[in-house]
Amino acid sequence: MGVKVSYKELGLANTREMFKKAVNGGYAIPAYNFNNLEQLQAIVTACAETSSPVIVQVSKGARDYANQTMLRYMAMGAVEMVREMGAQIPIALHLDHGDTLELCKSCVDSGFSSVMIDGSHHSYEENVALTRQVVEYAHAHDVTVEGELGVLAGIEDEVQAEHSTYTRPEEVEDFVQKTGVDSLAISIGTSHGAFKFKVKEGEEPPPLRFDILAEIERRIPGFPIVLHGASSVVPEYVELINAYGGKLEGAVGVSEEQLRRAAASAVCKINIDSDGRLAVTARVREFLANNPGEFDPRKYLGAARKELIKLIKHKNETVLGSAGKA
Ligand code: G3H
Ligand code: 13P
Ligand code: ZN
Repeated sequence: MGVKVSYKELGLANTREMFKKAVNGGYAIPAYNFNNLEQLQAIVTACAETSSPVIVQVSKGARDYANQTMLRYMAMGAVEMVREMGAQIPIALHLDHGDTLELCKSCVDSGFSSVMIDGSHHSYEENVALTRQVVEYAHAHDVTVEGELGVLAGIEDEVQAEHSTYTRPEEVEDFVQKTGVDSLAISIGTSHGAFKFKVKEGEEPPPLRFDILAEIERRIPGFPIVLHGASSVVPEYVELINAYGGKLEGAVGVSEEQLRRAAASAVCKINIDSDGRLAVTARVREFLANNPGEFDPRKYLGAARKELIKLIKHKNETVLGSAGKA
């Protein structure tokens, strides 16, 4: 571990104020995952151009891929780039699906302004104890913490869950009170990745469990709720990928209509990773297929970055409602 640095020195913000405004305003803060330069540039450019607050988030895998020191300077560069664009938007750097106290501490020490401790695969008591420890360390550094109750179907980083376990509303009050978390990720029918629902041709995916969300909201009114696994798995991208040599059969996501409804409720952070991956892959495949003699990464990654900016602006403006809320 190198030198300790506070996110405040990097010009980042924690999520406290963002969530307060989002809960009161009936919209959700976008949390976009990134692993490389082009993704980060696209996220902050689109959010600056739509005047949206933003959470840029990295998974444990992304942190290993990009290197934690590099990430710190990338985040600092993103803040500076936005400032030079003349935009004033709060940017949080968040650890997505942290699985140990050590990892969360290390992120706090290296400039993250927010961390998630995902203890959802542990027993309730272990989840409470682990989350509480993270909160104590993070809050001492004015870093905000996201906890999770309930397990999403699919893969939660290294945690495999065959079937989802919906969040039990009767646990949320106790969890929030005992742990001191700033926000709570819940399971109401979404899942990670591009294959969220098994549906037959022409069938609609099942609706999210808004009844569970309403019960959670009733028990902890005004408390910031987080929705993971919230990519729409944009059909145009899936079609492009398949048209240019890819093989994504049966990829289905959460409809924009369902996400709009969630964003207008207590859900004030919506996590999107897969849609960004699909946008990048679609444009890279298309570009390389149409330009077989081209081998300059700036060309195909530039095309991907352009598509990502378009996608993120669309999400902020017409799905999450965060545009103009910075
Ligand atoms: O929730 C998981 C995110 O989509 C990150 O995925 O672990 O492959 O980076 P990753
Ligand atoms: P998607 O796979 O639906 O984009 O979900 C991302 C996520 O929840 C990251 O934590
Ligand atoms: Zn997630």
